[in-house]
Amino acid sequence: MNEFVKIVEVGPRDGLQNEKTPLTLDDRRKLILDLMQTGLSAIEVGSCVSAKWVPQMAQSDELFSSLPKDPNISFSLLTPNLKGFESALAVGCQEVAVFTAASESFTQKNINCSIDESFEKFADIMTTAKAHNIKVRGYVSCIVDCPYEGAIAPSKVAHVSQRLLDMGCYEVSLGETIGTATPDRVKKVWQACLAEMDAASLAGHFHNTYGMAIANIYQSLEQGIRVFDSSIAGLGGCPYAKGASGNVSTEDLYYLLSNMSYDTGIDLDALMIASQNITQVLQRTNPSNYANAYWQKRCA
Ligand code: HMG
Ligand code: MG
Repeated sequence: MNEFVKIVEVGPRDGLQNEKTPLTLDDRRKLILDLMQTGLSAIEVGSCVSAKWVPQMAQSDELFSSLPKDPNISFSLLTPNLKGFESALAVGCQEVAVFTAASESFTQKNINCSIDESFEKFADIMTTAKAHNIKVRGYVSCIVDCPYEGAIAPSKVAHVSQRLLDMGCYEVSLGETIGTATPDRVKKVWQACLAEMDAASLAGHFHNTYGMAIANIYQSLEQGIRVFDSSIAGLGGCPYAKGASGNVSTEDLYYLLSNMSYDTGIDLDALMIASQNITQVLQRTNPSNYANAYWQKRCA
């Protein structure tokens, strides 16, 4: 049997949070319904953050409530503080994600507090999450470069990641937020983290600004990482990281993994339907090389 690599689909959150014109709740829901047909086992539905800060993610709790339940899919919501967590809890969300960074400046711009203060907020979330048996995933942004501070020391990434695990996160996703990293630098980050943490508790989250995401994922696979975040049709960016492009596309990640004989549980036809539908809704070209090659071949 082939080894399984888990894909966490973050398009409905990391992708759509950056759209200039927010999608309607109905279009966000349709995207998730399409993604539910693909065999993905983890979908980030949206974020319970301030709508003044990120209007694109408004009513994510309502969106969550409107989804049909599926025991094979974990639907999660991003929650920066107890207020966000309580919104997620109220709609029966079983998994949330907390997010901080390895850069003080980015944390300040993103969630208006220091790294230490972010952990104080997460402590409140953790206590309530434990009481309700809710899984908490952690994110660390700026694992290689920060848009405000430049290069980030791998030891800093390891330190913040370890703190999230110690606090009770079941997994920490390392975010290469601005997509400037190359595999040599990514290797150093994993080496620093894996000196202290188990690969099974870590995930990779790569943005593709300079076209390096797949190379960085290959490097991460070599280091033993087996969970990766991606966005359908390469949607996204971060509102607090100017110039950063979308995540690696789920289509390109699927192509890499399936051709390396990893099992992903993904149904290709359903993935391509989801990809085509959201590309049409947004009326833009899909940046995924694989999706484009797939349709060219199909139409030839
Ligand atoms: P703040 O202004 O410091 O918050 O923002 P506050 O506690 O002072 O409250 C100010 C107002 O916000 C109040 O409302 C609160 O009720 C409200 P008002 O009295 O003015 O009407 N508020 C909230 N409303 C809804 N949900 C909440 C919430 N909390 C307070 N949870 C805050 C702090 C965290 C809220 C703000 O900075 C924020 O919402 N930031 C959004 C950050 C964000 O979503 N960033 C993008 C996601 S991270 C990312 O993309 C990186 C990642 O993909 C990995 C990678 O690529 O690196 C994960
Ligand atoms: Mg991201």
